[in-house]
Amino acid sequence: MMLQLLTFLLVGLFLVGSFTIIYIQVTVARDTYRDKKQQRALRNSSRPIRFKVTKREDMSPRHFSVCLTPLTAKKLPRFMPGQYLTLMPAIGHDSKITLKRCYSLAAWHKKPQHYELGIAKEPDGVVSTWLHQNLTVGSIIDALPPKGTFVYRPQLRKRGNEHTVLIAGGIGITPLRAMIDMFINSIGQGQSLVLFYSAKTHDQMCYLSELNNLAYKHPSFNFYPIISRPTSEWQGLTGRIDTALIASKLAHELGNNSANYYMCGPQTMMAELKQGLLNAGTPMDNIHYEHFGVNANIDTDNVYPVKLNNHQFEFSTQRTLLDAMEQNEIAIESECRSGSCGHCKVTLTSGRVKELIKSDIRLNTNEILPCCCIPSSAVTLEMPI
Ligand SMILES: Cc1cc2nc3c(=O)[nH]c(=O)nc-3n(C[C@H](O)[C@H](O)[C@H](O)COP(=O)(O)OP(=O)(O)OC[C@H]3O[C@@H](n4cnc5c(N)ncnc54)[C@H](O)[C@@H]3O)c2cc1C
Ligand code: FES
Repeated sequence: MMLQLLTFLLVGLFLVGSFTIIYIQVTVARDTYRDKKQQRALRNSSRPIRFKVTKREDMSPRHFSVCLTPLTAKKLPRFMPGQYLTLMPAIGHDSKITLKRCYSLAAWHKKPQHYELGIAKEPDGVVSTWLHQNLTVGSIIDALPPKGTFVYRPQLRKRGNEHTVLIAGGIGITPLRAMIDMFINSIGQGQSLVLFYSAKTHDQMCYLSELNNLAYKHPSFNFYPIISRPTSEWQGLTGRIDTALIASKLAHELGNNSANYYMCGPQTMMAELKQGLLNAGTPMDNIHYEHFGVNANIDTDNVYPVKLNNHQFEFSTQRTLLDAMEQNEIAIESECRSGSCGHCKVTLTSGRVKELIKSDIRLNTNEILPCCCIPSSAVTLEMPI
């Protein structure tokens, strides 16, 4: 009897031991696989893809769209509507600075074969002017794979009624157009989508007839184009987008918990709308927005000396501290130029800066984002070499 009990105990111990070892081995293998997968994703997200322009369409004298087909990637990375590509045009080969600019993916496909962008030529804009002049069918350009946290995630939608309100100003329509693509491809019962889209003039409103047609075909999608400087031929809404206009067109209350707002447009328009929505009781979690850049530096009277590692230069009329660094041939990491990627982070060791835009990036004490600020005194900065 004792012997049987002992044998039973030993077998039990052996089994528990074996299972523990197998469990540990499986856990370690799984963690290693996840680590490798994460590292691979990280490596791929910073490795440029080479593209060929396979289509170009001029939408207005200032706006054009391009289709980019990959030359170096077998399968194009999938993306969520709202994300962007970082273009790396070959401008100024002898410069130490690789110019990079982000462009939102303007159309969404579940398995993309190409990427589509919509680009506005900015007055005196270095990259957008170059792209406007040089991106033609057959030209080659490198870009970093899709990224970004401004994403529309219908799979996270709660059950029951759900309303999505999109608000675009000018070229801010591009990420929202990709969101419309996904909505139209997955409309569920009780779901509605409304787009408010403003432009200065009728001919600067991109995709107008396409959006009108979609709204005509899909009763759950409503479209309100608004022109701020109308000519006599414009019969639609005029003025600016504000919360009063939005409230007057929605079938639900502004603060309704089941409504999500996605905005992309000029900084002042988004700041006013965000405040208006919060005042109406909209939870902050339901307000999503993307900045395409920061407002220009208007403080042109002051000149401040800047020290950065071994460099010294003066900040005067440049738009941001990042622009000033690049003008002085300082090779600083950057990507979004609007406070959302964190790549340009440096340490402010003395002096003061003024923030032009509030970033969501978590910064340590004394860290600043040069793409979002200008000096307001003499400053000393440090960045890792
Ligand atoms: C996430 C994201 C997505 C984006 N998506 C799109 C998109 O889909 N389509 C699109 O067209 N753009 C998009 N942009 C904007 C785009 O990345 C570029 O910022 C834009 O094309 C301008 O770049 P640029 O090099 O032509 O202009 P820059 O040379 O960088 O200048 C930008 C603007 O500032 C002005 N400026 C420059 N220097 C000064 C100065 N010293 N004082 C005052 N003003 C000055 C210029 O006149 C110009 O209007 C996006 C940006 C971000 C961050
Ligand atoms: S460049 Fe992205 S945060 Fe400054």
